[in-house]
Amino acid sequence: MTADVFVTRTLPDPAAEPLVAAGLTVDHRDDDSGCPPAELAERAAGVRALLTVLSDRVDAALMDAAGPQLAVIANYAVGFDNIDLDAAAERGIVVTNTPDVLTEATADLAWALLLAAARRVVEGDRYVRDGRWQSPSPVLLLGAPVHGATLGVVGMGKIGTAVARRGRGFSMPILYTNRSPNAEAEAELGAERVPLDELLARSDFVSVNAPLNDDSRHLIDAAAFARMKPTAILVNAGRGPIVDEAALVEALREGRIAGAGLDVFEREPQLADGLAELDNVVLLPHVGSATTETRGAMVRLAADNIIAVLAGRDPLTPVR
Ligand code: 8YV
Repeated sequence: MTADVFVTRTLPDPAAEPLVAAGLTVDHRDDDSGCPPAELAERAAGVRALLTVLSDRVDAALMDAAGPQLAVIANYAVGFDNIDLDAAAERGIVVTNTPDVLTEATADLAWALLLAAARRVVEGDRYVRDGRWQSPSPVLLLGAPVHGATLGVVGMGKIGTAVARRGRGFSMPILYTNRSPNAEAEAELGAERVPLDELLARSDFVSVNAPLNDDSRHLIDAAAFARMKPTAILVNAGRGPIVDEAALVEALREGRIAGAGLDVFEREPQLADGLAELDNVVLLPHVGSATTETRGAMVRLAADNIIAVLAGRDPLTPVR
């Protein structure tokens, strides 16, 4: 018998428990590797709900393979660029995401990257472990000042605002770009909305926090790096394809910018040629929301969205 819900990947416990407690049957693919598309289509066939992750490509073909009874796709992420929303709308399928619960954890991680890149934390760690440290040196691993530096936030949504709020603790003036003004950020943080070119030219740190869509793809390209200060540091804990990664490698290699901290990449888990060879970049495997609490809250929210829709109620966090 086909299950009500297909969960496509290993998730933090208790992934299936709330669903089962709500009387639903669950097919949980308890395997922490991306579900191959053919297996996804096969196991989606006949289910009423899909609990998907970013590595699942959820397009019209998959929705048709699942069948007309598919009522809800609950994405285990705040982003939903892996899902064809138009195809879902055409088929009357509800799509949900996991906003809010991951805002603070993701902002913390963006700051971990910012500080690590500015103060060369990873280089220093390697230096000590490699046994190269002879004595405290006046000229060793000089980095960039954070306190009082200018922070530019590209995309002042919830996560961008949380990143900026942390900047106030470091006495940083805040610049931002956003589709519309963010009155809360302006009033609370004194943030100044400026055109992207101005943000790039004035910022010491540029934090990318915009969603990925046709407008933001490759927003930070070679021309953007040319506008940035040679001392500037780029932080991306949002979506990889917003940054032209080949252009970033070039900019880091040529010293057009000073450094970068990246949690996301254009073609995860692949890296652009040459990126891993550079010392002035800190690389993380897309762990922005990866705290035990946050990941648990994400899985509960995804499950609650499925339970609500299958019980005929409104979803808690629909994407549109
Ligand atoms: C992922 C994220 O969901 O929420 C998002 O949009 O990018 C992350 O929180 C997480 O890495 C699990 O795949």
